[in-house]
Amino acid sequence: MKLHQKTFIITGATSGMGRAIALEFAKEGANLILSGRDKIKGKILLKEIEEIGGQAEFLAGDVGDIQYNQQLVELAVKSFRQLDGLVTNAGMLGLGSVTELDPSDWDTTFRTNVDSVFFLLKFALPELLKRPAAAVVVNSSIAAYKSFPNHPAYCASKAALLALAKQMAVDYGPTVRINTICPGPVDTPFIHASAVAFPDPKKAVENAGKNTLLKRLGEPDDIAKLVLFLASEESSWITGSAFTIDGGILAAG
Ligand SMILES: NC(=O)c1ccc[n+]([C@@H]2O[C@H](COP(=O)([O-])OP(=O)(O)OC[C@H]3O[C@@H](n4cnc5c(N)ncnc54)[C@H](OP(=O)(O)O)[C@@H]3O)[C@@H](O)[C@H]2O)c1
Repeated sequence: MKLHQKTFIITGATSGMGRAIALEFAKEGANLILSGRDKIKGKILLKEIEEIGGQAEFLAGDVGDIQYNQQLVELAVKSFRQLDGLVTNAGMLGLGSVTELDPSDWDTTFRTNVDSVFFLLKFALPELLKRPAAAVVVNSSIAAYKSFPNHPAYCASKAALLALAKQMAVDYGPTVRINTICPGPVDTPFIHASAVAFPDPKKAVENAGKNTLLKRLGEPDDIAKLVLFLASEESSWITGSAFTIDGGILAAG
């Protein structure tokens, strides 16, 4: 098992990619601290993890809240005595062009997508630095490279994550490896919410799959496999890197 006796915090675990990552990590023997706001979905996920023999705790809260991030780290140490890694995956869209977007929505998007990563790492790094091979995986997006209509706060926040992750890899190597993934269109509730910013949302989702070189949307499990690789010691010489996982949509232009 690739994550045997390792403890990870996964944010945005109640849905989509975070849920798939949680199940994949549990199958590989990890102990998990799961984060999300939806307590019902959190409870269902805990049951699924228990059924496959995994060990996990769920703590509901908003990743934009500083104290909540501290509590996640404290829970990891209290429940499993150690913290070996993080998957910072929670995110929001904050749709609207610059002229339409309320400054408070811009702030909330940055708070949720970027500040949350700073908060969690701030509390987690002292624990991660105690471990021999800690790994952090940050979920950005191809939106860090490619612009989408009415997504200014989203695109800017996801680009900020690339720089933040690379910078932290400099300060906390060689003990803590920190990498970023940049998914393309993945079939989760998020892509349907994002499509609302396009003139024909249904067509936008269809086209997102068709425009990849592999002619389909990504599945959450496609992403979970890459995150597992980056979190495990199979990627022990990789840090400060960003991995596009997008069915080739960026290459297609
Ligand atoms: N789907 C795509 O095409 C795509 C492509 C590239 C990147 N991404 C990125 O992938 C990540 C996961 O998205 P997904 O597609 O799996 O979407 P999803 O199914 O909608 O899941 C989003 C997750 O983020 C959590 N979340 C959102 N805001 C939160 C907050 N303020 N506090 C705590 N948790 C919060 C949600 O939890 P609750 O519902 O419990 O609050 C949920 O678990 C996001 O960062 C997104 O930007 C998605």
